[in-house]
Amino acid sequence: MRGKFLTFEGADGVGKSTQIQMLADYLKSLNIKTKITREPGGDVVGEKIRALLKSCASLDGICELLLLFAARRSHYVDLIEPLLREGYWVISDRFYDSSLVYQGLLKNVSIETIMQLKQITIGDFEPDLTFVLDLDISSSTQRIANRSLQFDAYDEYDRMDAEEQRVIREGFRRLVDIFSWRMVLINAAGSREKVLSRIVSKLSRLSE
Ligand code: TMP
Repeated sequence: MRGKFLTFEGADGVGKSTQIQMLADYLKSLNIKTKITREPGGDVVGEKIRALLKSCASLDGICELLLLFAARRSHYVDLIEPLLREGYWVISDRFYDSSLVYQGLLKNVSIETIMQLKQITIGDFEPDLTFVLDLDISSSTQRIANRSLQFDAYDEYDRMDAEEQRVIREGFRRLVDIFSWRMVLINAAGSREKVLSRIVSKLSRLSE
């Protein structure tokens, strides 16, 4: 049986990686074959493009978008689709919704351009379910600061000011209204166990 494609979206610092790992552990405990991946990245080409994007902090929006969709097509063709055919549940940390929010709203690339590229590269393929983790900006900023301290890393590419973070949060919230057939908003505040239980409670939508 074909697997499911689940994606996680949201601003930086909302706790996606932790929840993705916990959800994968939960699914594996149910004997569901599960693989975690991410965008940009996931496969060999995608990871090379990720490194390129991370090293070019001030790329023009269209250049960034073209690189992201090249990475996305490679990720889809080489990794996601074959795994789904083998029956795996694939969980991706970000997918094309991130392009709609980051390149569309922050870099002013038109939604038509983004959707045209989406059609060219992955056609009608869509996630089966997308979790948008939503957290107030002061909490997500605090998590990013803690992470930077922990890893002694400062990533220009991921660096956003408060206004940009507000635009990103609002953008994802709007997408949940537009794509309500496949997207759910998850309150990412509280303990990690509590957030996971909110996510797990939405898995029933997969069989609707
Ligand atoms: P990550 O650190 O959450 O993996 O994401 C890397 C950065 O890439 C994050 O700031 C969001 C950004 N990004 C885009 O701008 N557009 C996209 O399409 C994707 C997938 C990520």
